[in-house]
Amino acid sequence: MAMRDTAPALDVDAIRADFPILAREVHGRPLAYLDSAATSQKPRAVLDALTGFYATSNANVHRGVYTLGVESTEAFEAARAAVAGLLNAASTREVVFTRNATEAINLVAQTHGRATCGPGDVIVSTVLEHHANLVPWQVLAEQTGAELRFLDIDDEGHLQLDGLDAISRAGRVRIVAVTHQSNTLGVRPPVAELVRWAHAQGAAVVLDAAQTVPNRPVDVQALGVDFAVFSGHKMLGPTGIGALWGREGLLQAMPPFLTGGEMIRSVRLDRTAWNSLPWKFEAGTPAYAEAVGLHAAIDYLQGVGLEAIDAHEHAITAYALERLAEVPGLRVVGPADADARGGVVSFVLDDVHPHDVAEILDRHAVCVRAGHHCTQPLVERLGLAATVRASFYLYTAPDDVDRLVEGLLDARRVMGV
Ligand SMILES: Cc1ncc(COP(=O)(O)O)c(C=O)c1O
Repeated sequence: MAMRDTAPALDVDAIRADFPILAREVHGRPLAYLDSAATSQKPRAVLDALTGFYATSNANVHRGVYTLGVESTEAFEAARAAVAGLLNAASTREVVFTRNATEAINLVAQTHGRATCGPGDVIVSTVLEHHANLVPWQVLAEQTGAELRFLDIDDEGHLQLDGLDAISRAGRVRIVAVTHQSNTLGVRPPVAELVRWAHAQGAAVVLDAAQTVPNRPVDVQALGVDFAVFSGHKMLGPTGIGALWGREGLLQAMPPFLTGGEMIRSVRLDRTAWNSLPWKFEAGTPAYAEAVGLHAAIDYLQGVGLEAIDAHEHAITAYALERLAEVPGLRVVGPADADARGGVVSFVLDDVHPHDVAEILDRHAVCVRAGHHCTQPLVERLGLAATVRASFYLYTAPDDVDRLVEGLLDARRVMGV
């Protein structure tokens, strides 16, 4: 079976040649890396940007007046401008570097959330969320006395909005936190409708874009959300760098998150004045070398084209759904329609434990995730304890999917099902 020809020309072979790790073998077989929803592999351009920066320009940012310090600061702020451009932010003042998406959500919860939520208020999230977009709201609710309510899904994972009226009667809705794409099911919630509803309630919308900034155009102004977060490591960048985008007026009004150096304008023994945006939220030495790596990743993704990457993921997902249907006893979880999901497919195989499936696939050098994928309430809502998850990216070739299917047929033989 061949992959349908609906994808625009993405030269996957040429792209794969840019990723040194894809040339390695595991257990004597070429690698089939199908865990990009957890983290992406890195192209040579990103590796070179990191080593090049350390080899030529390393110095702490915003401090040295000497040439290296100036170069380093310029490179760091150029990375911020690249993120602002990627997200279509109105200004670089709206882009705060964080360690990852998780830290960015905690930042919003502990600053905007602490400042705006109290008893009688409601925080809304969904059962689709990654723990990163769930636990911080639980903690905020406990800290402030606000109530945390969850929107449910149907059995395919589509978000149900019929609970909104009851939620708005429960109190003043302050925050609506929703994923742009589920990391477990690939399903994409109706963000535009939620934004309209949330704003009619006077609530701010926090968009967890960890699974979409890597693979399709994300325009924060067109989406109309108030905050958006992502992690660099899922979009070809290094670990240790992510970002929070927030509307400037909201960020201005928020107290700092972490305190210390860099985030101050002046410090006296009895009082401190905060730095201006976005540095008010960047305490301590930032991950400036990682920001340079992220900049190279953004350049690489934009060079390939985010629309083309999205289309490729759709095509490879459709191909995977077709091929997985050939495996007896395999049940795909989530939307049956490939158009209703991004490049993520979760499934279960008869009664075989997902960890056993993943282990057998590893013998075939096929890398997949098994477990609850940091979405325990979602997996339980679907009546499961765990799934196997294969996830795709711009470097995923049809051959990777074929190898997955071969491995799964072998897993059936090995487990005697
Ligand atoms: C949808 C979603 N949100 C948030 C996160 C958290 O990302 P990080 O661990 O990089 O903070 C992930 C990571 O898997 C994710 O898939």
